[in-house]
Amino acid sequence: MNTELAETIKNAFTDKYAEAPLLIFSPGRINIIGEHTDYNDGFVFPAAVDKGIIAALSKSSSGKSVVTAADFNDTISFSVDHIAPLEKESWGNYVLGVVSEIQKKGKTIGDFNMVFGGDIPSGSGMSSSAALENSVVYGLNNLFDLGLSKIEMILISQMAEHNYVGVNCGIMDQYASMFGIKDHALLLDCRTVEAKPFKIDFENYELMLINTNVKHSLSDSAYNDRRLVCENISKMLGIKALRDATEADLKTIQDKVSDEDYQKALFVVQENNRAQAASKAMEDGDLETLGKLIYGSHEGLQFQYRVSCAELDFLVDRAKEHTEILGARMMGGGFGGCTINLIAKDFVSEFKHDIAKDYKETFNKACSIYSVSLSDGTHAIN
Ligand code: GLA
Repeated sequence: MNTELAETIKNAFTDKYAEAPLLIFSPGRINIIGEHTDYNDGFVFPAAVDKGIIAALSKSSSGKSVVTAADFNDTISFSVDHIAPLEKESWGNYVLGVVSEIQKKGKTIGDFNMVFGGDIPSGSGMSSSAALENSVVYGLNNLFDLGLSKIEMILISQMAEHNYVGVNCGIMDQYASMFGIKDHALLLDCRTVEAKPFKIDFENYELMLINTNVKHSLSDSAYNDRRLVCENISKMLGIKALRDATEADLKTIQDKVSDEDYQKALFVVQENNRAQAASKAMEDGDLETLGKLIYGSHEGLQFQYRVSCAELDFLVDRAKEHTEILGARMMGGGFGGCTINLIAKDFVSEFKHDIAKDYKETFNKACSIYSVSLSDGTHAIN
């Protein structure tokens, strides 16, 4: 966690409200493998990172709630008795959505003040949105003694995203952000919402992120459209979700759907298998196999699920040229954001230098490179 940021947010809050706030850290996440499988009841392999949202909150006695996004220098105010969505794309919807979903559960909250800021670049595919939602629900649960379990809290965050932000997301991001364990990744079964933690120590290798700095926008109908394709094909197969389908099952309906939709469903079935195979490879300490699965995931996301972009493909293609990089793929919803790379530690600085230069020359903009440090999930820090 960024202690400097925590200090800045705390000070901004006390300057404004002259009282000590409840301070929350809520992390973003990476995902090793298992993309677009969560809303198909499948497996994902995320981990919380040491970057995220810091939120300072307290009860308000002014008769209204005031929430300030320090990074945008923007404030909204409202009464919890009259909650309604703001215009599309407004950051306030993440906060208001959580308030509304808490109320839908029959819980009563009063007005509150909040200041928040973060160190995850938005649109980087590291889920700053889930981090923000979780910070709000966790903070309000604490302030108003709501007695919500962590599972209830992440379902509230997910529904805020569906109903106020307009993205029909799965549960991966909210789960990873809330339940993260320091130095571990979580093999999450999105049907049972239970996870198996894996200690991450790749010895001579590490995970590195490269941000294309192409901002993805999930509320683009592209995400929801894909979810719909998966649901329609599940219906045709008479199953609850694509997690229950095999490649052979898909063949039985191949002539009844477009090739594009068939490829999307096939991707989901294969990606779900890859996520499980990856956990086996990690158990066996077989990084070569893990890397191949990661490259395979990208290929599927690029050609079958079609959620990549030229910048992401460029970074993965460059990674493939080096035996020191065992695997690379786009991470998160797609259309921008980061690639995740499994790279030899002693090759990091050389590759960083070369890829930054090549990327700049090719796209006339800079990429950003982050090393990854795995963190505990959403928690209070005072
Ligand atoms: C976004 C969504 C997640 C998941 C990923 C793709 O991050 O919020 O629920 O579907 O995309 O794996």
